Amino acid sequence: MKIIIINGPNLNLLGKREPEIYGSQTFEDYYNQLKVEFPAVELAYFQSNIEGELIDKIQEVGFSYDGIILNAAAYTHTSVGIADAVKAITTPVIEVHISNTFAREEFRHHSFISPNVKGIIIGFGMKSYELALQSFL
Ligand code: DQA
Repeated sequence: MKIIIINGPNLNLLGKREPEIYGSQTFEDYYNQLKVEFPAVELAYFQSNIEGELIDKIQEVGFSYDGIILNAAAYTHTSVGIADAVKAITTPVIEVHISNTFAREEFRHHSFISPNVKGIIIGFGMKSYELALQSFL
């Protein structure tokens, strides 16, 4: 089973970015842990701060992979382009967020992506990715 985790802007700073919200672990560390925990999954990872690169990656994997775990970060709340890309592909997408976006500022309560995903996992810290992975298995 081929699954890719796609992370949007500023998630390259996990570990040092607002640790009281996002925790103190780097994504690279967490990703290595996931690979050990799920040896049967062919896991890939992509991060970009650039909206078009995220769209390119969604298009590239969106007709061949078995699942996409997408944390579009701030673009969740702004990007019609990413929402359209998610709608255009055939690979199922699970939207994840590390923090509980509904417990934060109101502008984080709306997601352009949610209407076109298979499911949403919000607010379980880094564990959100793991829960998404389990749901694909
Ligand atoms: C986030 C929540 C977004 O509102 C924010 O812009 C992020 C991270 C999360 O994982 O909690 O960058 O997607």
